[in-house]
Amino acid sequence: MKKNFYITTPIYYPSGKPHMGHAYSSIIADVIARFKRIEGYNVHFLTGTDEHGLKIQREAEKNKKKTQIFCDELSQKFRDLTKILNLSNDDFIRTTEKRHFNSVENIWLKLIKSGDIYLDKYKGWYSVSDEAYYDDDEIENTNGAKTSKVSGSKVEWVEEESFFFKLSSWSQKLLDFYKAEPEFILPFSRKNEVVKFVEKGLKDLSVSRTSFSWGIPVPNNQKHVIYVWLDALTNYLSALKYPDTKSDMYKNFWPAYIHIIGKDILRFHAIYWPAFLMAAKIPLPKRIFGHGWILSDDKKMSKSIGNILDPIQVIKDYGIDQLRYYLIKEVSLGNDGNVSLENLKNCINNDLANNYGNLCQRVFAFVKKNCSNKIPKKEILSKQDKALTDKLKKDKEHLIKLINQQDLNNYLKKVIEYSFDSNKYFNDSEPWSLKKTDPKKMNSVVYTIIEQIKNISILLLPIIPNSANKILDTLNVPKNLRQLSEIKEDSKLEHIKELGNINILFKKVE
Ligand code: MSP
Repeated sequence: MKKNFYITTPIYYPSGKPHMGHAYSSIIADVIARFKRIEGYNVHFLTGTDEHGLKIQREAEKNKKKTQIFCDELSQKFRDLTKILNLSNDDFIRTTEKRHFNSVENIWLKLIKSGDIYLDKYKGWYSVSDEAYYDDDEIENTNGAKTSKVSGSKVEWVEEESFFFKLSSWSQKLLDFYKAEPEFILPFSRKNEVVKFVEKGLKDLSVSRTSFSWGIPVPNNQKHVIYVWLDALTNYLSALKYPDTKSDMYKNFWPAYIHIIGKDILRFHAIYWPAFLMAAKIPLPKRIFGHGWILSDDKKMSKSIGNILDPIQVIKDYGIDQLRYYLIKEVSLGNDGNVSLENLKNCINNDLANNYGNLCQRVFAFVKKNCSNKIPKKEILSKQDKALTDKLKKDKEHLIKLINQQDLNNYLKKVIEYSFDSNKYFNDSEPWSLKKTDPKKMNSVVYTIIEQIKNISILLLPIIPNSANKILDTLNVPKNLRQLSEIKEDSKLEHIKELGNINILFKKVE
C-alpha cells in the first residue's frame, strides 16, 4: 500500500496580480510534491485563494467591482498561474466555495461547544493589509502614521463587538507541543521566534468582525463575520471534505504532512492554527515550514517599493523550468535571498545550457553518430565507469533526507554536481578515440553515461519537469519507471531500443 502525503501552499489573497513571492511558495511545494510522488507516495497537493476579509472588500471597492466578481476574476489569475508554473496540484480551493463554508461553520460550532469562544468588545490595532491584530508594544510611528513593527504595514484603531477565542489558555499547551514535536516548526531559527513569543503569554484573539460583511457569517449571529484567518486556515481541512471525517480524503490525508508558508505568516500557522485545532480536538499537522523572502536589491519584493519581477513575464522571456531551477538554486529555503535577471541568466547558461543540457546533447549526438542511435550492450564496466554511477546511487538515501528536511537547495546542488562530473567523465574517457582503439570500452562508457543521464533526469524531474521528461522521453523510459526506485544497482537499459530526437534543451541567453 502506498503511503499518503498531504502538502499545501498558503492560499493567496486575490487582491492583485500574482507576483514572484507567490510563485516561490508554490514552486517549493510543487518540487516537494513531485519528489514524494517519484519516491512512491500517494500525494495530495493543495493550493488556492483566500477571498474573504476587509482587505479584499476594500480592494474590490477601489476597483468599483462587486466583491464576488472581483474575487472570481483575480482568483482565476492564480488558477492560471498554477498552469504557467506547471504546478502538479490536485486541487484548487477558494474560500468562497460552499464546501469551505460548511467546514468553517463546523469548526466554529466546535469551538463554541468546547467553551473556547466568548462574546466581548475588541479595542485595539488592526492591519488590514496583514489582516492581523497587533498589541500596543508592536506599534510604532512611521512618518506620522501608525505602523506595525512586525510587518511595517499601516494599522488602524478598531473598536467593535467581537467574539474572542481563548488563546491565552493554550499558551502552555502550545509550548508543551513544540517541545514534544521539535520539528513542527522549521527552520529552527523561526521556531525560536515563535517559542519566545508564546512564552511571553498569549492574549485572547478576536475571531469575528462586525464592521463589514465580506466573510462567513457567524452561525446563529449574522451580525458577525468570522475572522478571515480562522476562515482561511480551515481551507486545509475543507479540501479534504472535513467535517466528513469518514471520507477517504480526510482519512488518507489528514493530518497534513507539511504546510509550506512564508515567514510573514508563521504566527498564524504555528500559534493560532494548532490552538484552534487542539480546541476543536482535531489532530495537528506535522510540520509548518516558513520559507524566507525573495528579495530584490536586499528589499522584499512588493508593489509599493516597485521592485517586482513579474513571474509571468520572466517565464515568457526565459522559460518555466529555467525559473523553477533558478529560484530553488539561488535561495536557500529558510533564508531570504536576492534574485535578479542577471543571476537568472548566469544560472541558465552555467547550470542548464553548459552543464545538464550540454551533457545530454553531446552524448545523444555521439550515440547517433557512432552507435546507430542505439544503446550498446552492457560490457564489463571499468572502475571509473562504476565510480560515476555508484556515487549517485549511494547518495540516494541522503537525497531523500535532504528533501524531507526541505533542504531543496542542497539537493539541487548535489544533483547538478553529478551532471558536472558526468561531463568531465565523458571528456576524460574520450569515447571518440576508443571507437578505433577499444570499441568494447567505448560501449561501456556510452552505457554508463546514458544510465547516469537517466538517473540525473529522474532526480531533476521535481525541479525541471518539462526538460527532464523530454530527456526521459528521448531515452524511451516508460512513464511508470520514472521513479526513484529505478535508480538501483542492477538497473537495465533494455527498454531503450533507440534514442529519440532531441532539440536544443536550454538556449543560452545574453
Ligand atoms: N492569504 C494569506 C495566507 C493564508 S494561508 C491559510 C496570505 N496571502 S498572501 O497572498 O499575502 O501571501 C501568500 C504567500 O506569499 C505568503 O506565504 C508570503 O510569504 C508569500 N510571499 C509574498 N511575498 C513574498 C516575497 N517577496 N518572497 C517570498 N514569499 C513572499 O498571506
